[in-house]
Amino acid sequence: MKLFELTEDLLTGNKDIDEHHRALLKLGNLVVQPSAIKAEGTIFAEAISFLSNYVMYHFAAEEYAMVSSNYPNYEHHRQWHEHFKHEVSIYVNQAQAEGASKDLKLKVSFAIENWLLEHIRITDRSLAKYLQEQGIDTNIYLPTIRTLKDKGKLPEAFDELSVWSKID
Ligand SMILES: [Fe+2]
Repeated sequence: MKLFELTEDLLTGNKDIDEHHRALLKLGNLVVQPSAIKAEGTIFAEAISFLSNYVMYHFAAEEYAMVSSNYPNYEHHRQWHEHFKHEVSIYVNQAQAEGASKDLKLKVSFAIENWLLEHIRITDRSLAKYLQEQGIDTNIYLPTIRTLKDKGKLPEAFDELSVWSKID
């Protein structure tokens, strides 16, 4: 199975958004790479949970940036996020109930390849372009996990250590 990487066509030009996407693909690779699938089912389930947590954080951060900048396509973009979060939650539950399986690995890989990468390429790049057009610095920082918790956009119980320990 091929590993995901943030290729040129996936770059948004917004440093923060690109860094988040790089981390997302790194977590995706943890899930689909052969060493992860051959490991105990619990490790596989853990990797999917990390991916799911990071997806939650990243989407909340992008949505916060959209609301703060009055992004006109916010609702449409948010619906894409909801769809992917729903997909990932199904995989998390399946991994917890059934452990690692080739079928599940393929489903996750397919969702990243056909859904997430497409979303980054089209929808996220539009957002980054808008932020740039608004005169907002292209390196605008997405909010941190702490900020999102303070604003009620992420649950207080959201475990940031579990997310960051698997990246870098
Ligand atoms: Fe997005």
